[in-house]
Parts: sequence; C-alpha cells; structure tokens
Amino acid sequence: MADKLPTIAILGGTGKEGPGLAMRWAVLGYPILIGSRQTEKAQETASKLNEQLGLTSIQGMQNNNAAQHADISVLTVVFSAHESAVLSLKEALQGKILVDTTARVDFRDPKPPKHPAAARHAQNVLGPGVKVVAAFQTVPFHILRKNLGEQLDTDVLVCSDDLEAAKMVMKLSEAAGMPAYYAGNLDNAVVVEGLTAIMISMNSHYKVKTASIGIHGINQE
Ligand SMILES: NC(=O)c1ccc[n+]([C@@H]2O[C@H](COP(=O)([O-])OP(=O)(O)OC[C@H]3O[C@@H](n4cnc5c(N)ncnc54)[C@H](OP(=O)(O)O)[C@@H]3O)[C@@H](O)[C@H]2O)c1
Repeated sequence: MADKLPTIAILGGTGKEGPGLAMRWAVLGYPILIGSRQTEKAQETASKLNEQLGLTSIQGMQNNNAAQHADISVLTVVFSAHESAVLSLKEALQGKILVDTTARVDFRDPKPPKHPAAARHAQNVLGPGVKVVAAFQTVPFHILRKNLGEQLDTDVLVCSDDLEAAKMVMKLSEAAGMPAYYAGNLDNAVVVEGLTAIMISMNSHYKVKTASIGIHGINQE
C-alpha cells in the first residue's frame, strides 16, 4: 500500500503565497488545512480553492487548530507578523516540522535583511521541540498558481539544522514541481532572504514578476 500523504497546514494561508503552495499540494492529493486568525476567513479561502480545483478536501480553520491537526505546517503570514505568529503557535507546533517561508524584504525598497534569519529566530523562539525548515522564500506567488501538477522554472534552497526534516521538505517541494537543494543550517537562510531582495530588484529592472533562482553544478539523480 502507498504511504499516506502528510497533512499540510498553511498558516496565514489566506494571502498570496500560502494559497499558491496549497494548490500545488492539494492537486496531488495532500490533505490541506488553510489557517487564518479568523476561522471564517480560512473557510472562505478553502472553499474558493476547492471550487477552483474541483476538490472538497481543503479545509479552513484557525491557525492554532490547523497546526495541531497537521503533520507539517508552512508559515506564510505577512513578514511583519512573523514574531507574533511564531509566539502564538509555539505550543501547537511542538513535536512537529515548521516550514518558514519568510523573507523580510520591503517590496518598495528591497535590501538584504539583518542577521539572524527569520527562520533562525523562529527556531530560537520555538525551541528544540520544533524542527524549523526555511524554504520557498525566493518563489514568487505569481508562478505558484500556474501549471499545477507540472514542473516550475524555479529551484528551492532548503535550510535547517535538522537534515531529515530538510529532506522531508525537499520531497514536498519536488512533488510540487520545484527541485530542492539542501543549503545548510538555518543561519544560511538569511542569505536566501537576501536573494529575495535581489529577485524583487530584478523584477523591477526587467519589468517582470517572476524572477526566481536556479542551481547549477549539482546532479541529484
Ligand atoms: N508574496 C510572495 O510572492 C512571496 C514569495 C516568497 C515568500 N513570501 C513570504 O510569504 C509570507 C507571506 O507573504 P504574502 O505575500 O502571502 O503575505 P500577505 O498576503 O500580505 O499576508 C499573508 C497572511 O498574513 C496574515 N496576517 C496579516 N497580519 C497578521 C498578523 N498581525 N498576525 C498574524 N497573521 C497576519 C493574513 O492572514 P489572516 O488575516 O487570514 O490571519 C494574511 O492573509 C511572507 O513571509 C513572505 O516573505 C512571499
């Protein structure tokens, strides 16, 4: 019998990045829980996504509830709410993996952020009972909703202090059509956040919305 797919909670999944990731996993059969500060808002987003995809499997609930019921949680709250969101989820996330997508970059004035990485800060706040994995910071939401079930023209850098947790997230990224590479521990994630600043600057210069990253010189086959 095939392995049961893990349930994925998308915390703050009512915005731009969260629903895009949710859609890519939902079409593959992963059970998805959309989280929000408000249950109704989460349910509204879940219904819209179900309707768009012809599914009934996506559920909406309050962030803490979603984190408790999920095997893996993906944090996609607006970056200014990172600190308060992580604190409020501390209990619900114990014993689990948290994927942190946060890139602390101001779209109007993109600059590399300061140390420590948002994901390192999350790990410090959550403690050793949570395995934090930084990923998807360089993936623009514009590309996530297109070509569902197909490969995307982007790679994903995955940072974590826990290699096994990183490998699990790399598997999820690859399933969603984004080849993933282990890029070191959580301190390195500040560089990935900085790459996001570069992508935003390049979007502005080249008048696109889709700049992303690709890795060369590694054959993972
Ligand atoms: N946008 C992109 O292309 C992109 C690309 C890569 C990475 N990211 C990262 O993904 C994350 C989300 O980005 P986004 O563009 O999707 O953000 P967003 O659409 O502006 O907001 C996402 C969600 O954050 C929640 N939120 C807002 N204020 C909050 C607060 N005070 N406390 C808790 N939650 C709050 C809201 O959910 P509720 O109101 O439902 O609670 C909102 O739907 C960011 O960390 C960003 O760096 C974004």
